[in-house]
Amino acid sequence: MPPTVETDVLIVGSGPAGATAALALSTYGVPNIIVTRYASLADTPRAHITNQRTMEVLRDLGVEDQVVAKATPQHLMGNTVFCTSIAGEELGRVRSWGNDPYVQAEHELASPSRMCDMPQHLMEPVLVDAAVARGTSLRFETEYISHVQDADGVTATVKDRMRGDTYEIRARYLVGADGARSRVAENAGLPTVGRMGVAGSINIVFEADLSKYTAHRPSTLYWVLAPGATVGGIGAGLVRCVRPWKEWMIVWGYDLDAGAPDLTEEYALSVVRRLIGDDEIPVKIKSSSAWTVNHLYAERYADRRVLCAGDAVHRHPPSNGLGSNVSIQDAYNLAWKLRLVLDGTAAASLLDSYSAERAPIGRQTVDRANQSIGETAPVFEALNGLTPQTPEQLWANIAARKDATPAAEKQRERLREAIAFKVYEFNAHGVEMNQRYASDAIVPDGTEDPGFDRDPELHHQPSTRPGAKLPHAWITQGGRQISTLDASGHGRFTLFTGIGGDGWIRAAEAATKALGVEIAGAVIGPGRQYEDPYGDWARVREIGDAGALLVRPDNYIAFRHTTAPDDAERQLSEALRRILGRD
Ligand code: FDA
Repeated sequence: MPPTVETDVLIVGSGPAGATAALALSTYGVPNIIVTRYASLADTPRAHITNQRTMEVLRDLGVEDQVVAKATPQHLMGNTVFCTSIAGEELGRVRSWGNDPYVQAEHELASPSRMCDMPQHLMEPVLVDAAVARGTSLRFETEYISHVQDADGVTATVKDRMRGDTYEIRARYLVGADGARSRVAENAGLPTVGRMGVAGSINIVFEADLSKYTAHRPSTLYWVLAPGATVGGIGAGLVRCVRPWKEWMIVWGYDLDAGAPDLTEEYALSVVRRLIGDDEIPVKIKSSSAWTVNHLYAERYADRRVLCAGDAVHRHPPSNGLGSNVSIQDAYNLAWKLRLVLDGTAAASLLDSYSAERAPIGRQTVDRANQSIGETAPVFEALNGLTPQTPEQLWANIAARKDATPAAEKQRERLREAIAFKVYEFNAHGVEMNQRYASDAIVPDGTEDPGFDRDPELHHQPSTRPGAKLPHAWITQGGRQISTLDASGHGRFTLFTGIGGDGWIRAAEAATKALGVEIAGAVIGPGRQYEDPYGDWARVREIGDAGALLVRPDNYIAFRHTTAPDDAERQLSEALRRILGRD
């Protein structure tokens, strides 16, 4: 057996969660190894919607530009189409993913980053290449088998799939980012709620030039309501754009009780033909695979030195496009905590906040994605398409909406309303951006939770209450416009204050000296390091000029004080000691 390999953090899996964990840890200077089962990264498109919060994470990790360069931009994502086939009748559209003018303004105000469509087979190389360039050691064809942990670390047994032998990797922490069939989560005994295998689904990746049917109504998603489309799957047949307008992926359901169909090229072609509706278009099938819709989340993400992230702890359908987003966000939440624990700045108890903060988000994600499947049914209902019927009857029901009768007018109204309600899947800006944390790594400021003024699933509401993400505001540095999010992050704490807040800056310097924790000062005001020419920051900060916000490395607010008290040093020190678990 080869000698034991040693590292600080062993990461199992090179998907969005594992790759981001590695990228963040290497960015922070923490030695880490990724082991991943196969000889390559994801070779199919898989997850693709990349929301603003994720883009902010990637911005902080220095790879946002690379993602933007490879992704389909937001303005080409925006017309979710419901139709009888790509070439067939159109039933209606939803302006999606921030492309509704009203929602677009909310996106502009919420973040310096734009959402985009970045298929997973393009995203993973960006993350992994950057991680490796910054120090991650990557071992392909290496399968995690088991682990044992003791007071000082974790010893994992892995199998070299090329040589066929097993060996051990000793790490101080193990991150299980091994996806929906996570062996790490299973071996760690993480408690789960829900079930796998709620419905059967098939992905078919293919090439076809569909420009003539799509370029005038650019979208990332075209939903097909056709005979058989309510069986299994994710609510209807889906033709998803991978690369405009020549590479595509179909999602089509199957009856789980009957078992997955034989995924021959002939079968795949028949589904593609049915959903495109134009047999003249040349089609090249690239791959087909079967998967199941799951509704399962872990109640706890960690067992002592083993911490899981991504699909390992939340399994749900692709509805709302949340899969890789929450996985990337899990890893980002975890990485800075691991760093501070590993370098001795924080006690191991800081890691308890990982589960406390991320498990509620995982549960919300799983529930929302599954609910969105159910919310497609009213579209079929409006077309009298849910009762068992022949294809001819379904087409007749769909055609009935064109009649000049009171019943048809009612049907048109029901269809419009059912399609419009799908904003909860395609424009759920609040679901994407309103994540709030409560844990020992957040210091309450004694204020009541004000809740949300508008629907929290649809609308983002900025807040500086501890546990909220630092609001984005455009400020300037030496005349150059930057976001408040650019002034913080980068693996360190940041203390935001303004004119009159010098006592807070001195308190931050004292805390750095006493606790060894890096805290950058960010003073915003006329003639200071940063200026607020539009008054954007003053409108969202919810503190006075001399107040303070302590922002964590993941850009979440950990502590807030509205004024400049006499004992700023004591208050900040106590807050940091609580966050870091230091006595
Ligand atoms: P992910 O599954 O991406 O990565 C797991 C990693 O662990 C892989 O690198 C794997 O090789 C590795 N691994 C697993 N077991 C291992 C072991 N024992 N030892 C070593 N390595 C191991 N989402 C969406 O929003 N829209 C979509 O259309 C799709 N489609 C889709 C298709 C298919 C085929 C899959 C598998 C998944 C999707 N998804 C999706 C889901 C989406 O891909 C998913 O939510 C994210 O990839 C989750 O990222 P993770 O990093 O958590 O797991």
